[in-house]
Amino acid sequence: MKVTICIGSSCHLKGSRQVVEELQNLVEQRRLGDQVELAGAFCMGNCQNGVCVTVDGELMSVKPETVNEFFEKEIAGRLAQ
Ligand code: FES
Repeated sequence: MKVTICIGSSCHLKGSRQVVEELQNLVEQRRLGDQVELAGAFCMGNCQNGVCVTVDGELMSVKPETVNEFFEKEIAGRLAQ
């Protein structure tokens, strides 16, 4: 699974750095490093919905406050399927 986090300036202001760090921690804690590839990307052209994240190419919006929920549902949840 490939998860890409936008680190463009608008998403950066909305906390993309925090989202990246939190996702890295969660992936490590769950030992999912061999199944989840985290990457950064520049502006995805969807700034108003930042922080923009894609999961296998599917565009989603994550906030620092919702990163745990996002991880459970869209990352851990999908891998468990
Ligand atoms: S800065 Fe993230 S979509 Fe534009």
